[in-house]
Amino acid sequence: MENQSQNGAEAPVKVSTLNCIDLSNPDIHQSVSLLKQACLDCGFFYLVNHGISQEFMDEVFAQSKNFFHLPLNEKMKVLRNEKHRGYTPVLDELLDPDNQVQVGDYKEGYYIGVEVPEDDPEAEKPFYGPNVWPADGVLPGWRQTMEKFHHEALEVAKAVARVIALALDLEVDFFDKPEMLGKPIATLRLLHYEGQISDPSKGIYGAGAHSDYGLITLLATDDVMGLQICKDRDAKPQIWEYVSPIKGAFIVNLGDMLERWSNCTFKSTLHRVLGNGQERYSIAYFVEPSHDCLVECLPTCYSENNPPKFLPIRCSTYLSQRYKDTHAELSIYNKHQT
Ligand code: OGA
Ligand code: NI
Repeated sequence: MENQSQNGAEAPVKVSTLNCIDLSNPDIHQSVSLLKQACLDCGFFYLVNHGISQEFMDEVFAQSKNFFHLPLNEKMKVLRNEKHRGYTPVLDELLDPDNQVQVGDYKEGYYIGVEVPEDDPEAEKPFYGPNVWPADGVLPGWRQTMEKFHHEALEVAKAVARVIALALDLEVDFFDKPEMLGKPIATLRLLHYEGQISDPSKGIYGAGAHSDYGLITLLATDDVMGLQICKDRDAKPQIWEYVSPIKGAFIVNLGDMLERWSNCTFKSTLHRVLGNGQERYSIAYFVEPSHDCLVECLPTCYSENNPPKFLPIRCSTYLSQRYKDTHAELSIYNKHQT
């Protein structure tokens, strides 16, 4: 049982207060200090003045809606492939098998990664390759909008990573190195929650409880409440808090690779989405380092009394396993293919 008071009544879910980092703030020490506090406390913060215009964000959301409004047979033509590009239908993903009964998440999605042409040797890497796009004429301007957002969001992520580097007492450009964000795995994911009402007691969620896999995630949402975080995954009962949307802000959260890098000083926090019956759209941008990057305890995060808690692991090995653990086998969709 969760969020329950001693007499057994459901305690109201509180709204979390998160620090807000202003990327245009010239006082970098203030930004570093706010970010550090957020990373130590809950691994979630708001990001404002990030440089992506509201007008353009509105366009990305409008184009996302255009896609999800297509008939299912049209969406199935761009079903995700083994490189994790394309459409993921409702129930494709099961993030929290212990608490979600049989079925999966009540959300549909669309993955767009770094565009690498088929004939480029880099396309052999598990998370590199060509993207899957709706056919020309189906959604005019769609690909251009998504590619532009992918590009701009990566710049935002790199700017955040510089503040994170300073907060970890590293050189400001630590994450800019070629093996880090110089050749990143960066995935844009459009998400649509169809308006199902979640019921934790029945194991029904918009998105089951999970932590993200990589360095950081930038999340843009519409104004429908739904995202919840649990600051202490081991607490019994678990306490969940809402994160309210702020117009124009990204909600940024740290992923598991950063938790490993920082030897658990920076938190990758459990989160989930509860549907309240309203349709909801969100856009996640997952940022990971290069395929070959070795994620190992940072020099500033261990000491004799605090040895590394994890063995070093290659980014793509780790990521492949996490995707495999949470997504349906592609073969189940064979019957749909044309
Ligand atoms: C995710 C996620 C939250 C949301 O896709 O990893 O946590 O609000 N999404 O859609
Ligand atoms: Ni997430």
